[in-house]
Amino acid sequence: MQEQTETLFETQFEEEVHTGLTDYPKHLSSKYFYDAKGDKLFQDIMNMPEYYLTNAEFDIFSTQTEKITQLFSKESSSFNLIELGAGDGIKTKILLQNLIDNKVDFNYLPIDISQNVLDQLSNSLEKEIPEVQVEPQQGTYFEALEKIAALTDTKKIILFLGSNIGNLLHLQAIEFLTQVQKLMREGDLFFVGFDQKKNPQTILDAYNDQTGITAAFNKNILARINSELGGNFDLDKFLHWEVYDPETGTAKSYLVSKEQQAVTVEKLDLKTDFAPWETIHTEISQKYDDRTVEWLAEKSGLQIETQFTDSKKQYKNYVFKKV
Ligand code: AVJ
Repeated sequence: MQEQTETLFETQFEEEVHTGLTDYPKHLSSKYFYDAKGDKLFQDIMNMPEYYLTNAEFDIFSTQTEKITQLFSKESSSFNLIELGAGDGIKTKILLQNLIDNKVDFNYLPIDISQNVLDQLSNSLEKEIPEVQVEPQQGTYFEALEKIAALTDTKKIILFLGSNIGNLLHLQAIEFLTQVQKLMREGDLFFVGFDQKKNPQTILDAYNDQTGITAAFNKNILARINSELGGNFDLDKFLHWEVYDPETGTAKSYLVSKEQQAVTVEKLDLKTDFAPWETIHTEISQKYDDRTVEWLAEKSGLQIETQFTDSKKQYKNYVFKKV
């Protein structure tokens, strides 16, 4: 007779932390950086002078709004403007205001896993640009996108900003782009932010600020394991370490154990040992060039319709359509 195996884990977080801390080399996923404290730390990162990405995309949205509006309203039909991972919407608001000013007929559908984020965004839009028709969609990107695609054949313009795609390895990015591509129809557009390869020092500085905000952000995953899973990580015994490979364009974040230590995570029934200088890999932030984005598009059944870049040429928004 088969033995009944007990389900050890209640959440995906528990399961992934267990896997990551028992693997060699150890790893944890950057998607778990973002609890309330992590959201706040990421806000602080976006305000750091070293973190050029936010300013660069802001530059594109503020200096090229008219061109973007023209592109979106080209076929003079109405559309649904769908945003994957809405966040605080600062960049999107510039576009929304311009679309309103140009009397473009559209609805704004921000998708986010966090109802709290959606409520804040709806409230601020109600105050700042009350003319915008907002239809918040709570859920994962694909659940929500599938629902929207099934409900209506209104033209879709899908936004995925902030170089969030950079957290994916190339094969994962292709899978992600392909999933969106499958839900697109002819005439739909997919507008995606890709941080560009540049002076490696500039990239390293963006992920290794002297004030230690990025270090605190990276270590927040340990803080979360402590508070949510009963861990006893001593955050001071780990070092934030960043490397950037200018050939592959991959920035990688690590937490490095400064000494031999044992850590327990009560909720997972786990005790794990760290050798001196043993690593936990936590994040990749991929940087791109045209050839790489063209390759990703081709592998995903997409083609580049056009692209926008900031004045310092640090960052690009590519606009894809279905092949
Ligand atoms: C939100 C994934 C775009 O990788 O640049 C910022 C997260 N990590 N500093 C990035 C992050 C460290 C950010 N993304």
